[in-house]
Amino acid sequence: MHALALVADSVLDPAGSGAGEIARLWWVMVVATLVPFGVVLALLVVALLRARGTETRRPFLERFTDRQLIAAGGLGLPLLALVPVAVMTIGVGRTIDAEARPGASAFEIEVTGKQFWWDLRYPAPGSTDPRGPGSFRAANEIHVPVGRPVTLRLVSDDVIHSFWIPRLHGKTDLVPGRVNRLTINADRPGEYRGQCAELCGLGHAFMRLVVVAQPAEEFREWWERQARPVRSRPAQSVRQTFANSCGPCHTIEGLYDDPAVFSGTFGPDLTHVASRARLGNLIPNTREGLGRWIVDPEGVKPGNLMPDVGLDGDQLSEIVDYLRTLE
Ligand code: CUA
Repeated sequence: MHALALVADSVLDPAGSGAGEIARLWWVMVVATLVPFGVVLALLVVALLRARGTETRRPFLERFTDRQLIAAGGLGLPLLALVPVAVMTIGVGRTIDAEARPGASAFEIEVTGKQFWWDLRYPAPGSTDPRGPGSFRAANEIHVPVGRPVTLRLVSDDVIHSFWIPRLHGKTDLVPGRVNRLTINADRPGEYRGQCAELCGLGHAFMRLVVVAQPAEEFREWWERQARPVRSRPAQSVRQTFANSCGPCHTIEGLYDDPAVFSGTFGPDLTHVASRARLGNLIPNTREGLGRWIVDPEGVKPGNLMPDVGLDGDQLSEIVDYLRTLE
């Protein structure tokens, strides 16, 4: 069951400020280009129907020289169509830039593009800086409050990726060594699907993301829950399996008191992995799905960088049970 269907939603069904402006601009462009196109086609048909091999001109056109006709049709008409589009494009660009100014939104989320997933860093609940004290990591599923502008600080760890949630905003690249900002503001609750929009390697087509826009209260609950480290202690055997097989790439915040034990940041943070609806936004986050992912990462998400770590049946079952408790 490969979930290639429903990669993203339609640009023409906007649910946020940036996407709304882009959709309006798109419709203006359609009209500004289709109308002249239709006029030219109509004139062409008329010319073809009237072609008799003679060079007589209609009395009205007699009044103009060839140069004047070419200037009006080849320069005047396109300008008439394109100038309003250009003016509107500059306006939309300025609005989007103004929205993305640091400080123009409720808070910032740092989104790091990685081959081939989205690493998220949230500020501590109530604060604004995702690099400030108390910040925490999540992955692939971006929760935001409805009706409040939230700025995404877009960076990349490896190659160029492109952040794209069609119903919320246009594409913005994540470029190594640069910080790009994009402010989204969902105007109604819902799940908005997206996809990396820049070819970034083997797993590019599977680099999905989703924005979950929630009412303020619900979002606040999610935010506070995600910020809490794990308090339950797993059995020693689970700790051992995690440290040996998962810890080099994944972290469970709070699992280790000893910082010398592996707690990698190469892969997604698993502190609240069970709270996500899907794994990598590809398969349902169930016991079976989690097991499949660990046993056959390549089969679930071709091109992904997670190896089969070779757990035996007991280890697998224990680790899956434990991960399922991390809500
Ligand atoms: Cu990341 Cu394509």
